Amino acid sequence: MSEYAIEMLHITKRFPGIIANDDVTLQLRKGEIHALLGENGAGKSTLMSVLFGLYQAEEGEIRKDGKVVHITSPNVANDLGIGMVHQHFKLVECFTVLDNIILGVETTKGPFLEKSEARKKVMALSEKYGLQVDPDAKIEDITVGMQQRTEILKMLYRDNEILIFDEPTAVLTPQEIEELMAIMKNLAAEGKSILFISHKLNEILEVSDRCSVLRKGKYIGTVNTKDSTAESLSAMMVGRNVNFHVEKQPCHPGDTVLSVRHMSVASKAHKKMAVNDVSLDVRAGEIVCIAGIDGNGQTEFVYGLSGLEPLAGGTISLNGKDITKASIRQKSVGGMSHIPEDRHKHGLVLDYSLEDNIILQNYFEPRFTKHGFLRRKAIREHAEKLIEQYDVRSGQGPITTARSMSGGNQQKAIVAREIDREPELLIAVQPTRGLDVGAIEYIHKQIVAQRDAGKAVLLVSLELDEVMDVSDRILVMYEGEIVGEFDPKTTTVEELGLYMAGAKRKEM
Ligand SMILES: Nc1ncnc2c1ncn2[C@@H]1O[C@H](COP(=O)(O)OP(=O)(O)OP(=O)(O)O)[C@@H](O)[C@H]1O
Ligand SMILES: [Mg+2]
Repeated sequence: MSEYAIEMLHITKRFPGIIANDDVTLQLRKGEIHALLGENGAGKSTLMSVLFGLYQAEEGEIRKDGKVVHITSPNVANDLGIGMVHQHFKLVECFTVLDNIILGVETTKGPFLEKSEARKKVMALSEKYGLQVDPDAKIEDITVGMQQRTEILKMLYRDNEILIFDEPTAVLTPQEIEELMAIMKNLAAEGKSILFISHKLNEILEVSDRCSVLRKGKYIGTVNTKDSTAESLSAMMVGRNVNFHVEKQPCHPGDTVLSVRHMSVASKAHKKMAVNDVSLDVRAGEIVCIAGIDGNGQTEFVYGLSGLEPLAGGTISLNGKDITKASIRQKSVGGMSHIPEDRHKHGLVLDYSLEDNIILQNYFEPRFTKHGFLRRKAIREHAEKLIEQYDVRSGQGPITTARSMSGGNQQKAIVAREIDREPELLIAVQPTRGLDVGAIEYIHKQIVAQRDAGKAVLLVSLELDEVMDVSDRILVMYEGEIVGEFDPKTTTVEELGLYMAGAKRKEM
């Protein structure tokens, strides 16, 4: 018997303009949690997609329990007991949670679907692993956290024994991450073998037995996690030391840029307001952060601000001008930039090229349009400038289809576009989600530079490290209301936690 559940030997996978995996070898032991680490675009998702049968490698072979296998499709992978939770979920939006979980493996009774057994099994798994879902909710109405849990249940429902998690924690709250870590440890203890991709070094250090590192498509090495530190891993990954702390000077706030009064936004899921009578100001030259546990109205608040959802009440003004009823274009032209929470749904047109995505909100400006025609040369030059500046990596530069880019590089493209527009107000929702440590360092510097240039920044983040490190003022949101204001210099993560959980509340 081989000691390895899976061996990927000398795998090479090419895409137009790039070798995504260049002679990569990865050996997964039975019952281990094996982390895969590498910069954005290093080739991690590609390697996992080869294992899951989504792509065919040009060179190399895969062995399962020592025997060569040909994984020509995800169905073959499934038959071999390999399951995958994708970086960008692959759920049917208009189906329920339960229907998504059983999709493809439905049981039938005569011509009819027989779902009661399936429901029981799903609920049992959900109970056993603490994966809370509402089986009857539609995917489009639930939080990304619950979508994630749906994906995991889908994998467990199929009794897979080799589990691939591609950045499962990027979209989870700190509490959910703790739960997921425990779930993964349980699964490994039950004998399942796990491949785990994450950019968060503390997670890798906490949960994995071994860690393999890729850099620009090449295999760098495999280390035992217990002999590693965050510094040693990041140096292995980016080839230099990374500064984990955000350097910034004290802030000097100026005039109010954003002023929100008594804003309410209706909830899609229940009768209560998702955002209930929220008032806040963001001044020029400061970074105000809305902290909170996912699902406490932050998403809807930003939807209300940016115009993605109508307001149920209240007013918004930008630089003293009432924009409550302004269109999204008017807001954008008026100086509002928005790095959205869901990069696929609201950030990019996936089938457009990178360069067209970069000019989405300002293609009509004279520098990009003449007599109704796009000035392709100017657009290309502009895209090339941002690609260079923000180190957006892809196979074919400006003409790369957004869909084919790695998740982190899609995010970098959005951040580049939104910051480059030099907005008066930058709304950044989870701006570093899915980015590698080097890219996070860079994006944080850019956000601080915006604030130092006198812009107002509204940051919405679930990551307390980011909240504490980057912001000048912290507002905690709980059940649709602001329940406290804090100075990051004097508060602690524990204090914030109490307010985020609803255990305490300040009179505002
Ligand atoms: N379907 C595809 N077509 C063309 N190029 C692709 C495709 N999939 C991936 N690539 C390219 O291969 C490279 C590796 O991408 P991959 O998604 O594997 O990176 P990653 O390590 O998962 O990065 P991230 O941390 O950002 O998710 C990238 O440069 C990407 O642009
Ligand atoms: Mg990836």
